[in-house]
Amino acid sequence: MTIIWLIDLKLVKTLDNGLVRTPPMGWMSWERFACNIDCDNYPNECISEQLYKDIADRLVADGYKEVGYNYVNIDDCWTEMTRDPVTKRLVANHKRFPNGIKALADYVHSKGLLLGIYGDVGTKTCGGYPGARGEDGTDYDTIDAQTYAEWGVDSLKLDGCYADTKNMTNMYPEMSRALNSSGRAIVYACSWPAYQIGQNPDYRRIAQYCNYWRNFDDIMDSWTSVTSIIDFYAKYQDVLVKYHGPGAWNDPDMLIIGNFGLSLEQSRAQMALWAIWSAPLLMSNDLRSIGGQYKEILQNRDIIAVNQDKLGILGTRVHSKSGIEVWVKPMTPIVKGVNTYAIVYLNRVVLGTPLIISFKLSSLIAGLPSEPLYNVYDLYDNSKLIGKLSNDQNLTLKVNTSGSVRMVKLTPVFKSDEIENDLN
Ligand code: GLA
Repeated sequence: MTIIWLIDLKLVKTLDNGLVRTPPMGWMSWERFACNIDCDNYPNECISEQLYKDIADRLVADGYKEVGYNYVNIDDCWTEMTRDPVTKRLVANHKRFPNGIKALADYVHSKGLLLGIYGDVGTKTCGGYPGARGEDGTDYDTIDAQTYAEWGVDSLKLDGCYADTKNMTNMYPEMSRALNSSGRAIVYACSWPAYQIGQNPDYRRIAQYCNYWRNFDDIMDSWTSVTSIIDFYAKYQDVLVKYHGPGAWNDPDMLIIGNFGLSLEQSRAQMALWAIWSAPLLMSNDLRSIGGQYKEILQNRDIIAVNQDKLGILGTRVHSKSGIEVWVKPMTPIVKGVNTYAIVYLNRVVLGTPLIISFKLSSLIAGLPSEPLYNVYDLYDNSKLIGKLSNDQNLTLKVNTSGSVRMVKLTPVFKSDEIENDLN
């Protein structure tokens, strides 16, 4: 008993690695580039060092880094099919990563960015590449963590294919310890609860060991996929909200904005929801060819500021009826004890006529005090001031259909000190 207790104490410390105190932002290859290893036919799209270097270049040159996107995350299919027979280390595919991961990390770092990598807690990755456990049960956590640290890797996504989900309770913490002992600060992203959907994952334990964690199925390039994630978050929000905060984030998976499956309106909706959840903002798209309007959504500083708010609260759904949803997130600044709030009106109705949606503020935010007025800023319109409401007045917004949003920020303004709040 005592030993277990001591280990637990140490592990609480493990989580507190000081990393990702606001949700991580960056890019990840999986949804857009998957496991394309055919560089002969797809020279610009295959999983190769060139792809990650191109993305690093774009992050810097096109303003993404400036607004906060700083992780370049390698996903599956980067290794050879076997470990080095002597050292037992993972080896980057020689043809596609001719200079190895260390050189890629150096390149990414030279741009002021960070490099993430991908592994699997089981015997193989989902794509069939070597996992952190050998077929004979050998545990390679320590070797892998040391290798990543030596290469200068800054973040690890540890997937959960080819592993017994019951053993994850112990397997994921093992890599957490190995990373913690590696001598390098490495963010730890776990896919642990995504392999226990409907089995009541132990989020308390997950949050003790992981910096962020995937909850649900893989995002695909469609609005249907996005809404399945929205519904999952709504269904489990009471549990998810508890363990979510600085250094420990629920991860609804990548942003697919700029790809083929979402309309412009639905892209705004994904950005709004991911922001109101304080979710990791990991784009998976082709930044070399993305359309300007999608880039604008991804670089909306006011919405990113909601995502990056230092309280890190996971916003929750407070209304859902006939395809209309309202999501609310308390955030800073807090003025005389009253929070600022972000609110999203989401219209999922598929009949094409825009709808005027109206709710009394006090019906959306329980206990909202009557004293201050609330300035209303439209976050998809350069934070234009569009109203000044008291808690018993209605927030009325016209919202387009088929997955459209309006997103506003409410800041409390007391009569005595009107202009104290930021007006951006
Ligand atoms: C799983 C993960 C995805 C991706 C693939 C790679 O499906 O959930 O995000 O990493 O594996 O094979």
